Amino acid sequence: MTTVEFRTPGALADAERWTAHNYHPLPVVVAEAEGAWVTDVDGRRYLDFLAGYSALNFGHRHPGLIAAAHAQLDRVTLTSRAFVHDQFATFCRGLAELCGKDLVLPMNTGAEAVETAIKVARKWGYRVKGVADERAEIIVAANNFHGRTTTIVSFSTDPEARADFGPYTPGFVVVPYGDLDAVRAAITPNTVAVLMEPIQGEAGVLVPPAGFLAGLRELCDTNNVLMIADEIQSGLGRTGKTFAIEHDGVVPDMYVLGKALGGGIVPVSAVAADQAVLGVLRPGEHGSTFGGNPLACAVGAEVVRLLATGEFQERSARLGARLHAGLEAMIGHGVVAVRGRGLWAGVDIDPALMTGRQACERLAERGVLAKDTHGSTIRLAPPLVVTEEDLDHALAQLAAVLKG
Ligand SMILES: Cc1ncc(COP(=O)(O)O)c(C=O)c1O
Repeated sequence: MTTVEFRTPGALADAERWTAHNYHPLPVVVAEAEGAWVTDVDGRRYLDFLAGYSALNFGHRHPGLIAAAHAQLDRVTLTSRAFVHDQFATFCRGLAELCGKDLVLPMNTGAEAVETAIKVARKWGYRVKGVADERAEIIVAANNFHGRTTTIVSFSTDPEARADFGPYTPGFVVVPYGDLDAVRAAITPNTVAVLMEPIQGEAGVLVPPAGFLAGLRELCDTNNVLMIADEIQSGLGRTGKTFAIEHDGVVPDMYVLGKALGGGIVPVSAVAADQAVLGVLRPGEHGSTFGGNPLACAVGAEVVRLLATGEFQERSARLGARLHAGLEAMIGHGVVAVRGRGLWAGVDIDPALMTGRQACERLAERGVLAKDTHGSTIRLAPPLVVTEEDLDHALAQLAAVLKG
C-alpha cells in the first residue's frame, strides 16, 4: 500500500518558520489558479471568494491581462520616471478618462496612493485654499482602513493596526462613519480634505446611510474642502458600477485606486483628479521608482479597457443580486445580517454558532476561500468572472457550514 504524502503541512511550517508573523493565513497553500478557482499544492481545488481583497476582480490570470503582461515582458519592463516610456501616456489617459478627471498619478500599492492623496490635499490646502503652514486638517472616518504606513495608521481607530507604532502623524480628525453632522462639526477653516471609503471594506463591508455621500459632497463644496474617495477596494467594478460612489450619484475631487488596477498581476495604484488639484505637484516633490513602470502601465491600460466595456460592472450587478438574495435567505439560519453591493458582501455570522475565523476554516475545508474580519463577520468578494453555478455552489457550502 502506498501512503500519500501531503505537501501542505510542510509548506505551512516553512512559511511559519521563515516569515514575520504579521498575518494569520488560512491553512491553504496555493500553487495554481485560473478564473475564480485556485488549486493547492496537494491538488485540491477551491473557489476564491476573497479575490485578493478585490485585487483579482477580473479573476486569476485573465487571458487579456496575461497577454498584455507577456507582450510587455518581451519589450521593456522598467525605466523609472527619469525617462518616459511608450505605455505611460496610454495608461494615464485611459484611466483619467475612465475617472472623468484631467490627470492621473500612478504609484504601486494602495497605501502609497493614499499617501499621495494626503500630500496633494495638504499642498492644495496651503497653495490654493490658503491654509496657514503646518495647519492642514484632514477628516477621516472611524473604523477606516487606508493602509499600513506610519501616517495612515496614525488615523486608524483599530488598536491592532495602530498601537506601538507611534509617534503618530498629526493633522487628522476622526468622526463616526456615516455621520454627516459629525463631519459638519469637525470642519474648520484649516480642513483641506475629507478622506473616506464609499463602502468600508475591512470594517465589514459597511454601506453608509442613504444620502451620506451626497451630503458629504455638498459639505465639501460649501466649505472649499476636497472630497477624496478611497476606492481601492470598492472601485473598478466590485459593486456593480465602476466606482462605488456612483451609486450615490457623487463625483469626488480625487479618486484613490489600487488593487484591481494591477489586474492581479502587478501592484498598480493611482490617484486621479483635475488639474486644479493634482496640478499642485512640481518635479521632485513626490514619486516612486516603480510607480507607472512599463509593465504596470501595460497591464493597467488593459484593466481600463476591460472596464470601459461595462461587462464586469454588469456581471457584478447581476450576479451580486443573486449573491445577496442567497445570503438574505440565510438570515435567521446562522446569519444575523448581510451588507454590501454587487459581488461584495459582509456577512455577520451568529456568534453563538462560531467565529468568523471558524466559518472561514470550515468553508475552506469545503473548498471555498473567504476571509473573516472583526470577530463574527466574513467577507465575500468573488472575482467578477465567477459563474452563477460557482456562486450557487459557494452559497450551498456556506449554508452547510452554518448547519454544522
Ligand atoms: C480601502 C483601502 N485602502 C487602502 C488599502 C491599502 O492597500 P495596500 O494593501 O495595497 O497598501 C486597502 C487594502 O486593503 C483598502 O482596502
